[in-house]
Amino acid sequence: MAKQAESETDQQTAAAAFAGLSIEGLLRDRYDGEDGRDIFAKVKGFKLTEQARAVGLYPFFQPLDRNDGPEAQIYGRHVVMLGSNNYLGLTRHPRVVQAAHDALEEHGTSLTGSRLLNGTTHLHEKLENRIAEFLGTDAALVFTTGYQTNLGVISSLVNRRSVAVVDKADHASIYDACQLAEGEMLRFRHNDARHLDTILRRIDKDKTCLVIIDGVFSMGGDIADLPGIVEVCQRHQVRLLVDDAHAIGVLGVGGRGTASHFGLDGAADLTVGTFSKSFASVGGFVAGSRAVLEWIKHFARSMIFSASLPPASAAAALAALEVLIEEPERVEAVQRKGEMLRNGLQEMGFDTGESQTPIIPVTIGDEVATGIFWRDLLECGVYTNPVIFPAVAMGKGVLRTSCMATHTDENIEFVLEQFQTLGRKHGLLP
Ligand SMILES: Cc1ncc(COP(=O)(O)O)c(C=O)c1O
Repeated sequence: MAKQAESETDQQTAAAAFAGLSIEGLLRDRYDGEDGRDIFAKVKGFKLTEQARAVGLYPFFQPLDRNDGPEAQIYGRHVVMLGSNNYLGLTRHPRVVQAAHDALEEHGTSLTGSRLLNGTTHLHEKLENRIAEFLGTDAALVFTTGYQTNLGVISSLVNRRSVAVVDKADHASIYDACQLAEGEMLRFRHNDARHLDTILRRIDKDKTCLVIIDGVFSMGGDIADLPGIVEVCQRHQVRLLVDDAHAIGVLGVGGRGTASHFGLDGAADLTVGTFSKSFASVGGFVAGSRAVLEWIKHFARSMIFSASLPPASAAAALAALEVLIEEPERVEAVQRKGEMLRNGLQEMGFDTGESQTPIIPVTIGDEVATGIFWRDLLECGVYTNPVIFPAVAMGKGVLRTSCMATHTDENIEFVLEQFQTLGRKHGLLP
């Protein structure tokens, strides 16, 4: 691991040095640091990460020795993993591993081409049919990642005559998709159906609209106000896309996601999902009406101009879906573990924001304090994900934690003990 500050005084000195760096300045330099015609000029001033590493506070791109379950290993140290999206704990499930293995044997490592041309197998189609059956939709369409799913779906639908209306806290892939799309993008206040209504009223009647929300918000762990948003969309006769990346396998009957959670099955016109979380693989999908997916599959550039999901990944996702269908108790287990962690943290006095799901952000403070807390937790055997400016407001850093169905009660109790000890040490708890 990067060199750590040895003593309390070292730590304060390191923090002061690190705090002297301007994160705002860094961001400005992304645009302004260029001189002359050299596009690389800006990188000369990019010292923040190097300095954070020097004081042992650089949290990103840390190579793990092993990361395949509720407990992991990093730099030889055993840790409880609270930084993974492996919600159902299926990445080591024998059926999932065997299915990936068999597909690898049968199809080789890659199809080396796009779905449109040589990159579709019967496995892709079977996976699509099973997802559609699971979600009760007409059809589903598999992409190579969830990120690419949003890029392709949104940009193929939102044309020059359209407006994409997004929740301010939507995932980055939705924002990137809107940049790629030809139409305009408008934002409404986070989870505020009344503000959505206000925005929709302002849009010219001759424009088509797509409202896009996350079902579960990836940073806050809160659930979309789907009943309120559906009511507004229906009143304005506009279509709704729900990105259920963090909801499928976690919320609703048997893990069927946000609409199912509210008893509103079929309320979303399109549901986007990913295989990189509950489905223990990589890849993404959109589910909805066959006619709309027929359009998307012929106009989504991220599908047409990129290689298809490798068969081993498709097979792993399909096996994970079968396990989810056969073992719905895993959904309750991940919810229970989330509740145990969230209640424990709240009882101690930590601020867990609006979290209602196994995604639990813990507010720490400024960027340096968040880095030090993250590092101390790691040294105590708990892996978390630090989220700092610009992903959150300046000075409002959080440690994002998330639970798995396979965490034991002892895992969660251990984590709570470490949070309590460090919370007191860092003055966040009495
Ligand atoms: C809400 C949401 N949508 C889409 C994605 C992209 O998924 P993938 O990892 O499959 O690219 C993520 C990933 O973090 C996400 O949180």
